[in-house]
This record gives sequence, structure tokens and C-alpha cells, in this order.
Amino acid sequence: MIVDNMKLFREIVDLKEQLKQDRASGKSIGFVPTMGALHEGHLTLVREAGEHSDIVVVSVFVNPTQFNDPGDLERYPRDLDTDMEKLETTPCKYVFSPSVKEMYPEKDERIFNFGALENVMEGEFRPGHFNGVAQVVSKLFDIVEPDKAFFGMKDFQQVAVIKAMVKQLNSKVEIVPCDTVRESDGVAMSSRNNLLTSEHRDVAPLINKTLKEARNLIPERSVEEVKEWVVSQVNANPLLEVEYFEIVNDEDLQPVNAWNSGCTVGCIAVFAGEIRLIDNIIF
Ligand code: PAF
Repeated sequence: MIVDNMKLFREIVDLKEQLKQDRASGKSIGFVPTMGALHEGHLTLVREAGEHSDIVVVSVFVNPTQFNDPGDLERYPRDLDTDMEKLETTPCKYVFSPSVKEMYPEKDERIFNFGALENVMEGEFRPGHFNGVAQVVSKLFDIVEPDKAFFGMKDFQQVAVIKAMVKQLNSKVEIVPCDTVRESDGVAMSSRNNLLTSEHRDVAPLINKTLKEARNLIPERSVEEVKEWVVSQVNANPLLEVEYFEIVNDEDLQPVNAWNSGCTVGCIAVFAGEIRLIDNIIF
């Protein structure tokens, strides 16, 4: 399904009014929040949303409160015209791209508490990141009031945090996690991939390749041995540097030390030069 007359909204009040009318005529609303620089991974989420909803809303907003590194915020690619062109090939009906002032007319002082969920991995290495994500996603959910919202599993911990947020806020939004979309060489699609130098892009497939090979070591090698092996394989390439690799329970994201601890996920963050890439694999 491709929608004619895709509409761009800059202001909350206009989008809310439009969606109120749509809701009144019985339409269900699917929502895909993004920070733009759209790639096939995002477009897959939008198509998935189109399968399950009458109207698909996509937000394009680079949320300053979730960046703990000002350089990362500054570098983050922004090109709404290209994003709109890409969305025209999808079931997206409304694009919501507000200004920072529109989303944050005043400083958002809310502090969320996700307990142990936010003390590991991305939470540990990007302090404040998930608080910023929760601030913006809760605002977006209040504005759009979607029936379902679609998120990619590349950001495995983000999905867990958003599910926890929805519970805490008694929100009725159904969170729909969708598989990671990969380039043909296995690299997880990410808006940051475009920022890689060609040398770093060439070696990036090693991350997913190593995670896949690690699977073959289980259960003969212990959790600790597999962790060490993955880190040493990736770090053996001088252009890559592992920030963390954790093997965690898929429910509470706490590190496990044995393979019989339920469903486990290996989550990795790697610096390829200045660009930080994340990926994960279900063991
Ligand atoms: O995953 C992202 O792109 C962002 O964290 C999100 C969910 C759009 C919030 O800014």
C-alpha cells in the first residue's frame, strides 16, 4: 500500500487535530518514531506498520535529550527532503517533523527510573541516553496516541526500556518489535553507517560475522570464554574497538554466567573510528 498525498506536519496541534478526525472515523493508527536519515531498516518498519494499521505516522526528529555526546548530536545526519522522498514509496500517510522548540517549549525535567535495565550496556556507556529516549517517546506517544508503535530490534535495549516505560505510564500503546534489517554483507542498517569512512565500512561486517560464529561455540565454551573470544576477534582488527560485549538474559538484560539461564542475547558496541556501531544476536 502506497499512500497518495502524504502530509507533513510541523506543529503538534495540527497533527493532533488531523488524527482526532481519523480516529473518529474508526481508523487505527500505527506509529514509527525515527530520527530521520532513513534507510531500508526504517522503511521496513513503516511497511510493517502499514500491514497492521489504517494510518501510518512517521516522526522525524533528532532528539537532543538522548545524546550524551555533543559531537554525535552535531554529526547526526539530517535531510528531511530525502527522507520524505523515501517515505513516498511506503504506506506512510503523515510525517511529523517538529522543531526542538515545538517538542521542548521548556526543559524536560522528568527523570525516569528503569532500574537495572538502564544500568547495563547502552545505559552504562551512554549515561542519560534512555532518559532522553523515554522523554521524547512518551511525548510522541501523547501526541500521536498510536494503537501500535514499531521499533527495530537492532536497538534491543531500547525496545526493553520502551516496553518498561509503557508499563510505568499505563500507556495503551502496543510495542511491536521488528527484526534487524541488514546489508547484504551482514552489517546492521543504521543511520550512522553513512558516516563511516570507506576503510571502516569495509571492516564493519566483521562484527556480525563474529557474533554468528560465536553461536557455534555454544554450549561447549563457557559464557566467559565466548565473551573473551568475541572481543578478541573484533579487536584483532586495528580499525575496530569493542566498547562492550555482554551476554544477557533477553527479559531483564542482566548479564548471565551460564547457558541455561533462559533465552540469551549477545549485545555489542564497537567503535569504528569515531562512529559507534551496535548490534546483537539471539543465542
Ligand atoms: O531509535 C531511534 O531512532 C530513537 O531513539 C527514537 C526511538 C526515534 C527516539 O528518538
